[in-house]
Amino acid sequence: MNHGHQALAATQPSPGFGLGLRTQHYADFLDAPQRVDWLELLSDNYMVPGGKPLVMLDRIRANYPVVMHGVALSIGSADGVDESYLDALGALADRVQPLWVSDHLCWTGVHGRVLHDLYPLPYSEDALDVVVRNVQRVQERLKRSLVLENVSSYVSFGASSMSEWEFIGEVCARTGCRLLLDVNNIFVSSVNHGFDARAFLRGIPADRVQQIHLAGHSDHGDHIIDTHDQPVADAVWALYAEALRLCGPVATMIERDDHIPPLAELVTELDHARALSVSTLVPAKVAA
Ligand SMILES: [Fe+2]
Repeated sequence: MNHGHQALAATQPSPGFGLGLRTQHYADFLDAPQRVDWLELLSDNYMVPGGKPLVMLDRIRANYPVVMHGVALSIGSADGVDESYLDALGALADRVQPLWVSDHLCWTGVHGRVLHDLYPLPYSEDALDVVVRNVQRVQERLKRSLVLENVSSYVSFGASSMSEWEFIGEVCARTGCRLLLDVNNIFVSSVNHGFDARAFLRGIPADRVQQIHLAGHSDHGDHIIDTHDQPVADAVWALYAEALRLCGPVATMIERDDHIPPLAELVTELDHARALSVSTLVPAKVAA
């Protein structure tokens, strides 16, 4: 079956500025309206039958658009995509009707493990064939374009025959999938591998970018790690502005996985993204 035409549909208009939904903030979202346009839920946490998480999710979903973000699709797996995982993902998508569904451009050693087990792929023709086949299967099953996120990496492979951004561009061109650009991950990888983060941004297809992640990292001097437990760094804000100049308005969210602060703190950080988006995009529009 060819879903190429459907899959190549344009990216959806930006719903604005969002946050990752964390259990610590359930009560905030239920008690009062928040200055947050949409929420990203971690699909794997809700792929369970019944229980409190789904009840809370249904209540919050009544007031906020959501996007689904998973960690265990393992789109780079040579064994193909796990069909039972895909069924559970499809069932959750039917339930919450997300704006879109994302996962990571990587392989996960063992299904269901935590974020730090997202392993990068070699950027080779063989890996490209595997990813393309798996993305096509997911899109056929979910009947929607998949959104894939660039991961951070600390090692590179001798088998790579192209840059990460060339690999990403090929995956998009061959499957019609869209991109979740994690600006912090680009920054982390650029420092660890010594490439130009702006070359990465210029190298990926700007018209396929559906969402942006902003996050903090830990700086260890000679290498940095995407711990997602800190405020967004200045260098990442600068790179975000560059991404906006290239892509136009894109749904943006702050991603915080550890040391989760009170919601108000994240909303303030999100306000900074809003302000930066306005100051970056409005002058460009006037000049055009
Ligand atoms: Fe991310």
